[in-house]
Amino acid sequence: MSRPTRHVFVCTQNRPPQHPRGSCAGSKGSTALLQAFWAEQQKRQTYEQVAVTYSGCLGPCDRGPNVLVYPEGVLYSGVTPDDVAEIFTSHLENGAPLERLIAAEEVW
Ligand code: FES
Repeated sequence: MSRPTRHVFVCTQNRPPQHPRGSCAGSKGSTALLQAFWAEQQKRQTYEQVAVTYSGCLGPCDRGPNVLVYPEGVLYSGVTPDDVAEIFTSHLENGAPLERLIAAEEVW
């Protein structure tokens, strides 16, 4: 396995429904989001360039689902499965972070 150019961490933290912080997987559907990233990776056959990994809580739960991309350290918030293809094309394959989904500066 070669070292990927970019590594995507998709928060799939789950908490009980009444938890005050909520959670990306619990009420915001990040499990489907993670599946969308894996499906897009398979469709594009980018296994050598992009790694996609689920993660625990990334911090700003109220703005989830959250996705963190390294090496740039870009945090995307409120990501949906419909955004995944654009993230791949713009950021993961061409190095241009997708401005409209980047978390606000005071958040990250
Ligand atoms: S639960 Fe996803 S960022 Fe906290």
